[in-house]
Parts: sequence; structure tokens; C-alpha cells
Amino acid sequence: MISDCLTINSQGHLVISGCDTVELVREYGTPLYVMSEDKIRQVCRRYLSSFQKNYDGYGCPIYASKAFSCKEIYRIIAQEGLETEVVSGGELYTALLAGVPAEKIHFQGNNKTPDELQFAVEKNVGDIVVDNFYELELLEALGERTGKKASISFRVKPGIDAHTHEFIRTGQIDSKFGLDLQSGEALEAVKKSQSMKFVSLKGLHCHIGSQIMEKEPFVHAAQVMLDFFFRLKKELGITLEHLNLGGGFGIKYIEKDDTIPYEDYMETVSRAVHKKCAEADYPIPKIYIEPGRSIVGEAGITLYTVGAVKEIPQVRNYVSIDGGMFENPRYALYQAEYTCLLGNRANDPADYLATIAGKCCESGDLIQENTLIQKPQSGDILAVLSTGAYNYSMASNYNRNPRPACVMVSKGKSRVIIRRETYEDLVLNDL
Ligand code: LLP
Repeated sequence: MISDCLTINSQGHLVISGCDTVELVREYGTPLYVMSEDKIRQVCRRYLSSFQKNYDGYGCPIYASKAFSCKEIYRIIAQEGLETEVVSGGELYTALLAGVPAEKIHFQGNNKTPDELQFAVEKNVGDIVVDNFYELELLEALGERTGKKASISFRVKPGIDAHTHEFIRTGQIDSKFGLDLQSGEALEAVKKSQSMKFVSLKGLHCHIGSQIMEKEPFVHAAQVMLDFFFRLKKELGITLEHLNLGGGFGIKYIEKDDTIPYEDYMETVSRAVHKKCAEADYPIPKIYIEPGRSIVGEAGITLYTVGAVKEIPQVRNYVSIDGGMFENPRYALYQAEYTCLLGNRANDPADYLATIAGKCCESGDLIQENTLIQKPQSGDILAVLSTGAYNYSMASNYNRNPRPACVMVSKGKSRVIIRRETYEDLVLNDL
């Protein structure tokens, strides 16, 4: 199985963290997001112990909550001792409501609105990651009005091109995110911050992309960022406290995805950081990483009921499900690959070539094309694996479909953490 929280029981049913998917469907209906709490906590602990081992605990993983945001995940993350990244007023609001301490929140985004910045400053958010001069000036003006000082870092584009889908690549110069290093824009921003009264610059941040399966781009990014730290010390006499190296670690969607254990990334990057700082006789800054997908991705699956099966001879077999691009838009957006199987007959031979179609009024509403599954019948349960990241968080109400419920499972027990939307919910804001 592509995730260690998944097994198949003697009845041939797919099981997640001790919960039989057939039972889950009976109890909660479909479509249904299921998340393994055990798996999420296990990954958090692996990252944390890597920090202990590689940086003597001087540093911390930050959960990038755009991957999956709801109150319960923020509680779990905080309990595990990770910090939290948010990218909107809505994520910030949810995190605070769930009890995440403001000083443990890092606020990202390439165009934070004046209202969002005000909200963050009022709540004493620990780290506002300033993306551009516009935000920097907004913060200074806000301070002049309210007397409140913002604790900030800068998002820098290290100019690194990681090999991943072009829509989720962010570290290269042609990116809407961050301040450019090569042209001197980032240096200019640091200089400017030093002349300001209401911002206090604490660190730098970079993020080179997502679903990356190599270690080298991370090492390279760390080296480029540290060179900039050294330059700031030399030219401006500034020693910054922290370096946030972003997220982007790849996960397993299909069997042939060749993932690198997180400990390997951590160790390789840490070695490069130690070497470079020793050579420059520079104190190792506090290191952060900011994973999202790798914390929740493999912990999640989505369960559907198979409806119409349409076999078009010499063309393809459409297997329609009761979900679609409204609750998982990733195939429509990125042709993202997934492993699909029948949850109620997981041991049958997977020899049926299927295109999994959603229920939206749109031909491109597909979850997967030409994938091998067990021969399906209407009423079977279709499971799509590794859907814990960027599924619920990217869901919409397209075609006025209610968003599915999300159930958290742990050691054979399940509980609803996000209830299923109702038709009443859909018209709540209609006047
Ligand atoms: N930090 C920053 C500033 C980011 O922009 C991101 C992701 C992360 C951390 C977390 O990266 P991760 O560890 O999850 O790869 N919707 C796309 C992914 C967009 C990622 C955006 N930024 C998808 O479904 O693949």
C-alpha cells in the first residue's frame, strides 16, 4: 500500500488506521474524506526528531495549513509542537479560533490585504512574511496609526528552478512570490526595513516549489539564502535570527513515485547549512521548514460510491462517482496522478481500465484517466488514495454540490471533524 496507514482486511476491504472503509461509508455516507490522525502525528514526530538530531532542536517544522485547514488539524499540529503557517485572513482566523498561539503563526501570501495585515498585527502574529514593498509600507503605515510594531521576515526568490509542475513552481525569478535576490530587490527591502520604526526584521524565507523529489534544489536554496545572510552581515552589519527553507517535500501518489524519506532531506540540508556557516564563521540561524503536503497528504483518502458505468467500445470506460472536481480539482488542474481501487473488493485483480468521472457538468471533470482498478459495479466503493493535501482545502461548491464530510480516524475509532454541507448551508448567504 502506498501509505503505511492503509491495509486490506480478510474480507478484502480497505482499512485505514484500523477502520474498515465499508463501515465508514455505512456510517457517514459518500463522498467522504477520511484522514488518519495516527499518520499525521507520526509524520509530525519524524520531522520534530529530525530537528532535534540535526539542529539540536534549534529550529522547528511549521505546518503549511493551505494543504488542509480546519480547526481539528490546527489543534493536532499545536499539540505535536509544530508551528503553523497561514496564507489568508480565513486561515488565520481558524487557527486562532482553534487555539494556536499567535506567536507560533507565520503569515504568508503574495498580496496580503490591508485588512488581513491589520488583523495579523492586532493579534500579535509572530512572523509576518512580507512578500513585497507594498506590504512593507502598509505595515509601517499601520504602525504609525496604531503604535503596534510588526515582527516580520522577507520572502526571497532564490532563483532556483525545482523540477515540478509549472503551476506549483515558485523559486524561480519569473514567479509572483517574493523579492528577487539577483536584481538587488531583496537587499533593497532589507535596507528599507532598517529605516522603519514599526517593523522588526527577524529572518528570511524561501520556498522553491511543491511535490519535489530531489534533495539538491533544497541544498542549493539553503546555500543561496545563507550567502545572502553573510552579505547582510558584511554590508549592513545585520545578523538575522531565522531562516525558513519552505516546504515542498514530495509524497507518494502512485506506486512508482520515488519519494525521499524526510530524514534524508533534513540531514542533507543540515549538513550543507553546518558546513557553510562554519566556513563563514557565522552562527547557525534558527532553521524552519514549512511542509504541508507531506504532513497530511498520505494520511488522507476519499471514498465514493460508484454510480453509472459507461463502457464505450474502443474508446474508454467511464466509471462515475458521486464526487468530482468540486471536492478534488487536482486532476482537472494539474493532471495529478492518483491510485484508485475498490474499497469493498480491494483484493480482486485490478485489471479493468477505467476513467473515473465526477458528477459536474463538464467533460474535464475527471479524477483519473485510464487507471487500472477492480471491475466495478454500481454501488461499489471507490477509494482514491493520498488525498489528504490540497483536496478539501481546494474544494468548492461548483454546480452547488455540498462539500463532503471529513472523518478523522485513529486506532480503529472514527469521528467527524468537518460535517457534511447541507443544501441549507449552500443558500446561507443568498439574499
Ligand atoms: N510554504 C509556502 C510559502 C508555500 O507556498 C507552500 C505551498 C508551502 C509552504 C507548502 O508546500 P508543500 O509542502 O505542501 O509542498 N495546490 C497545489 C500545491 C500548491 C502549493 C502552494 N504552496 C497542489 O495541489 O499540488
